[in-house]
Amino acid sequence: MLAAACPGLAQANTEPKPITAPQPGDSFVHLSGPKVGQPVVAEDLQIGAPKLAYPIDPASGEVRRARASQVVLTRLDPALMSDETREVAWNGIVAYSAICTHNGCPVTGMRNPHTLLCPCHESEFDIADKGKVVHGPAQRRLANLPLKTTGDAIMVAGPFSGIIGAQTK
Ligand code: FES
Repeated sequence: MLAAACPGLAQANTEPKPITAPQPGDSFVHLSGPKVGQPVVAEDLQIGAPKLAYPIDPASGEVRRARASQVVLTRLDPALMSDETREVAWNGIVAYSAICTHNGCPVTGMRNPHTLLCPCHESEFDIADKGKVVHGPAQRRLANLPLKTTGDAIMVAGPFSGIIGAQTK
């Protein structure tokens, strides 16, 4: 009845919600900095210089703009990577959730070339070892986002490896 009186409401209720979680085959766009909105390419990523990115559906061009989809991409020496990390990296590039598992701050810093640092309370995560916590207060590793190769593109290979941020389930 209400929908009949308000056609716009009926339409709003039936429209599919956009998928905000990263999907296999997604690529990435810069979330900040001078290249904001542009595709992230391998040359943008240097050791010790993490970049924040959003996944993007390459077919529709829709950016998956949700806090829980924010990703930190960086490069590290493959020789430092655990076997498990090497399996989910591409060409020395790794991707992790950018949301700290302690209290949800963006993880934007680096303590050293293989340790991401959360600036809020200084939790540290070893990105050469699948995001393992090496310094608290965080108790849970950062979720890894597996990558794959297709030509020169950096692409998502599968879902996050764990719970995002400070959520408990
Ligand atoms: S929110 Fe990251 S250490 Fe507290």
